[in-house]
Amino acid sequence: MPEKERETKGQISRRQFLKSAGIVVGGTAVGSSILISACSGGGSEVITKTATVTKTATDTVNVTTSVAKFVCPYDSQEFDTFAALQSHVEAQHSAGSPVTKYVCPYDNQEFDTLAALKAHLDAQHVEVVTSGAEGIITMKVNGKDYTVKVEPDMVLSYVLREKCLLPGTKTGCWRGECGTCTVLMDGRTVYSCLVLAVEADGSEITTVEGLAVNGELSPLQQSFVKNRGFQCGFCTPGYLISGTDLLAKNPSPTMDEVKEAVSGHLCACGNMNFNLKSILEGGS
Ligand code: FES
Repeated sequence: MPEKERETKGQISRRQFLKSAGIVVGGTAVGSSILISACSGGGSEVITKTATVTKTATDTVNVTTSVAKFVCPYDSQEFDTFAALQSHVEAQHSAGSPVTKYVCPYDNQEFDTLAALKAHLDAQHVEVVTSGAEGIITMKVNGKDYTVKVEPDMVLSYVLREKCLLPGTKTGCWRGECGTCTVLMDGRTVYSCLVLAVEADGSEITTVEGLAVNGELSPLQQSFVKNRGFQCGFCTPGYLISGTDLLAKNPSPTMDEVKEAVSGHLCACGNMNFNLKSILEGGS
């Protein structure tokens, strides 16, 4: 039920709850993802299923839909996608420990790090699909062209994470309440869990992975580091996207304006004040 409708019916809304908790003023929402992810090298053995993957065109990233199993080298858990494996390693094994190698499920090549495996997957193992065919959408994500095969009920957050292999965008509630999945779509902040992938066809998307420039964290990202604007980090990408959007339109916002801009974000750790300060001081 929409917030305003909830309020007019006398029910407490999320906005009211946050307001009464002294955390947020009001407004609209947007989302999040991991700001800093520490992952170490490692190895992975893989159970191969059907690997329908071939080489991509040079400037276009075509993404596969069927993958083999990626196996965590630390605890042998299996994952359908590289993104799922990466999230698991970042969440559970960030301290890092000596491991064997990450193994590509398609050609069994070994890599010391997740990043190296990801680069290999991007370069060598993507399904070639034809633009314009049924179920195929094209998007520009973080400046790169993606041609992706989707189903009618797939949402954008899923496609970004599992097809484009960009796990920075997180999904928490899957229903437009937590804001962790926020991305910029054609210059507007949207909850990517509420956008059908087919609606994103032809659009330009910016995820948290697209905020750094030439490998350098943006001033806002640096402010989050400096001000400890994250705790577990799950909500951080959404705050970064909304903060980036706000600062692009208003480089010197007041605290009330910052609160308004991120009022749709939830931080389960209760780190809100640090998040707000990070954005307040995040202008270049
Ligand atoms: Fe999209 Fe919560 S708002 S996952």
